[in-house]
Amino acid sequence: MSQPETSLMNRLVALCKRRGFVYPASEIYGGLNGFWDFGPLGTQLKNNIRDAWWRAMVECPPVGPDGEIVSIVGVDTSIIQHPKTWEASGHVGGFSDPMQTCRQCKKLFRADHVPDMLKEAEWVESLANALKMASADALNLRPLATNQVVFDGVAARDWAQKKGKKLAPGLALVRNAAVTLSWIDEDIRATPQRRFSFDEILSYMATGQKNQTGLQTPCPNCGGDLTEPRQFNLMFESQVGAVQNEDSKVYLRPETAQGIFLQYKNVLDTSRVKPPFGIAQIGKSFRNEVTPRNFIFRTREFEQMEMEFFVPPEDGMKWYEFWVAERLRWWKEMGLSESSLYRHDIGDGDRAFYSAATADIEYKYPFTDPGFGELEGVAYRTDYDLKQHQTFSKVNLEYMDQENNRRYLPHVIEPASGLTRGVLALLCEAYQYDESRASPEWLKLKPSLAPIKAGIFPLVNKDGMPEIAEKLYQDLRRSYVCQYDAKQSIGKRYARMDEAGTPFCITIDGETVKDSNVTIRNRDTAQQERVALDKVKPYLDEKIG
Ligand code: GAP
Repeated sequence: MSQPETSLMNRLVALCKRRGFVYPASEIYGGLNGFWDFGPLGTQLKNNIRDAWWRAMVECPPVGPDGEIVSIVGVDTSIIQHPKTWEASGHVGGFSDPMQTCRQCKKLFRADHVPDMLKEAEWVESLANALKMASADALNLRPLATNQVVFDGVAARDWAQKKGKKLAPGLALVRNAAVTLSWIDEDIRATPQRRFSFDEILSYMATGQKNQTGLQTPCPNCGGDLTEPRQFNLMFESQVGAVQNEDSKVYLRPETAQGIFLQYKNVLDTSRVKPPFGIAQIGKSFRNEVTPRNFIFRTREFEQMEMEFFVPPEDGMKWYEFWVAERLRWWKEMGLSESSLYRHDIGDGDRAFYSAATADIEYKYPFTDPGFGELEGVAYRTDYDLKQHQTFSKVNLEYMDQENNRRYLPHVIEPASGLTRGVLALLCEAYQYDESRASPEWLKLKPSLAPIKAGIFPLVNKDGMPEIAEKLYQDLRRSYVCQYDAKQSIGKRYARMDEAGTPFCITIDGETVKDSNVTIRNRDTAQQERVALDKVKPYLDEKIG
């Protein structure tokens, strides 16, 4: 199947806007970087994923490794908590990203994102093409000490400009091509056997201060010089009350987890739970991300679905393995394919110091393909959080195990996923392109997650058909989100529903008036079958589940 020129992500973002899944926030004012709004279909899809998670965690949790149904309760805690919370959790001191600023264009970058951003920078593509052209003898090649060659910077720049592309203005090549070339020349003469990789040539091209600072990674925006990485705290600050000073400073929560730890003792004292048990929460979190990007993948305001599972210390690893497997299983049940999911065990050196084990559940997003990006983290956090809050609050948070007559701080296993990031993964997975269909772009969402479950269409708006269709709509809407649509041709109505990911379309035609059978079209197969009017609801019950 031929694919259109535009990248899959661009097409998905356009579909999301066109069909009311996701809009840029504050769009009429030019948007606000890192913020997105969910439209009618997107909100419904997000709510369906949220409800499926809540059901799988709180209302109908799985059977645990010991054969018992696990016990999990839900909470909904404040976005703003006592500022000491974030000192205890380590967010005030340590929740920061390494940042680099470009000395030329003044843009800020997250140091660990620069290599990926460079791969996507348009000027890098121009430079790569210029290098290819150079080896094809199209530029003024200058044979150097050995049979190495290097291309002429001025010619490369001219070539890029002729192609309507710019080489980054801060690039040393552009600022002073002659100097750059003489450096390369010297280097090759000094070590004649030296061969340059593309990355090395990029670094050479990047800076006018190579002789002072050595090879540097260029600015992804303009090719200029980047400062050394500096730490930047990601928490949004606000003030509580009328007097604004250091004492009134509060933070918007950067994760929902800490609200759970703060209420763990209350839950223990007021609910019929004891370790092993979990507390689940879904809600908004805020991070002043340095480089929000990739649509709703990394945003500054997002939703999390987190569960803290409290266990006796000796059972930590058993429950950790259980939850990693269970969370992978759940994402597959939601529709993510086995080949798009990856369990990434985080090595000893890369984990938080307090974590005994961490695995990221990763998904192959179009922008990470062939690699994977994080969807959920499952962390064995030991007793770190409870111990910290116990120390900072001076409140004893130990659990008294009456049966074994011992007190202990439970250990915690935390499956923490992004709800908004989950919406993105499921949309990426669902996106289909098939030119032979009325709507080449369509969404193959799991029926139970689809925002609209059924479209209900009278074939024509007369001859008794609208009356039957409306009655069916009135009956079905009690159980399922349905859309009644009588406008335009039946093909156009199917196309609209396919783009919205609606799994079933029910058409009331002339025959229905005579024999009380309707046509149900299946979104995935485009096959149609006749079903008796009074069997439509059981049909949907069986297929949607
Ligand atoms: N309590 C642990 C915690 O918050 P995390 O890995 O920082 O761990 C958990 O976040 C999940 O939240 C991530 O796997 C991701 O799905 C989601 N998430 C984190 N930052 C995000 C952002 N800026 N935008 C969208 N989702 C984000």
